[in-house]
Amino acid sequence: MLGLVARLPDLLAEGQRLAGDAKVPTSYPRKVFVCGMGGSAISGDLLAAANPNERPPQILVVRSYHLPPYVAKDDLVVAVSYSGNTEETLSCFFEAVDRGCRLMAIASGGKLLEAARKHLVPSVTVPAGLPPRGALGYLFSATATLLDHAGAGGYHRDLEKLPGHLRRLAGDLQPSVPLAKNPAKALAAKLQGRTPIVYATPFLAPVARRWQTQLNENAKVLAWHALLPEMDHNELVGWANDNRRGSFGVVFLRDAREEPAMEARLRATVDLIGQGSVVGTFVATGENPMERLFHLLHLGDFVSVYLALLQGVDPTPVKVIDDLKGRLARAQ
Ligand code: PA5
Repeated sequence: MLGLVARLPDLLAEGQRLAGDAKVPTSYPRKVFVCGMGGSAISGDLLAAANPNERPPQILVVRSYHLPPYVAKDDLVVAVSYSGNTEETLSCFFEAVDRGCRLMAIASGGKLLEAARKHLVPSVTVPAGLPPRGALGYLFSATATLLDHAGAGGYHRDLEKLPGHLRRLAGDLQPSVPLAKNPAKALAAKLQGRTPIVYATPFLAPVARRWQTQLNENAKVLAWHALLPEMDHNELVGWANDNRRGSFGVVFLRDAREEPAMEARLRATVDLIGQGSVVGTFVATGENPMERLFHLLHLGDFVSVYLALLQGVDPTPVKVIDDLKGRLARAQ
C-alpha cells in the first residue's frame, strides 16, 4: 500500500491517458450524478470541489442503491466502481438505463463493464488488481477526463499540472525520510493510541472524508471527520463535557484561501477543544482547487499507512468488507 500511495501522481497521469480516447457525446448536462461507494465514490466529491468552471454543472454523489427521483434524461450519470461489482452502483446504473439518462461507466472489470458494453454505454477500463481506494488516481482523472469530453468538466489543464505539484510536495513524506523530517510519520506517531478526528472547512470536506476512510481501512481504526463551522454548533459541546476527550487526536485541515472569518473561528475552536488534543494543523497549498485538495489528500494517505505500520497491521487487506460482500452475495 505504501508504494501505491507514493505512486498517486503516476496513476493520475495514467488515468487521464486511459480516458483520453473515450467516445463520449458532447452536450452540456443539466446535472452530473456520480454513483459509487467507498473508495470509488470519493472521486465524485473531489470532482465537485475541484471544478474550475465559474458556472459548473452541479455534481452530486449518489452513495445508495437508488438514484434520486428527480434524475432524468437531461442528466449525466457516471457509474464508478473499481471492482465493477458493487451492488449499489450496479443498481444505480440500471436505473439510469431505464430512465434514459446519459450514462458513462468506469471500472477495472466486473458486471459494470459487461453491462456498459451490452447497453452501448461509453466506458473506461482502468488497470485491475489494486485495492479500490488505491486506485483513486486512475478513477479521479479518468472521470474528470470523461466529464471534459462530455462538456461538463474543464479539468484538463489542472489535471496536467497535478502530478508535478504532488511530486514536489511529497518529497519529505516518502518512506526513506526519517520521522524527524517527515510530517506524515510524525503525525502518525502522535495519533498512535488515540482515536483520530479530522476537522476541515467545507471546501476540504472530501479530503477530510478521505482521511477518515483511509484511517479506517489502512490503519484499521475508528475515526471520524466533521466540518467547520457546523461542528461549532453541536460537536463542540462534546468537547466541553465528555470525559473521554483525552483519548482523541484532532487534526485540522485548512485552506490557504479560506475566508477571514474562519481564522478567528478556528482559533476559538482550538482554544475550546484544548490545545492538548490537537495533534496537527495542515494548510492546503496550490495554484488551483485541485492542487490544494490533493496536497492534503496525499498527506493523509501517507499518514494512514504509517499509522498502520506503527501498529503492526497490514494496510492492504480489508477482510471485513470482503466478508460482508460475500455474505450479501450469498443471501441473494
Ligand atoms: O476501499 C474499499 O475497498 C471500499 O471502500 C470499496 O471502494 C467499496 O466497497 C466499493 O467497491 P468498488 O470500489 O469496487 O466499487
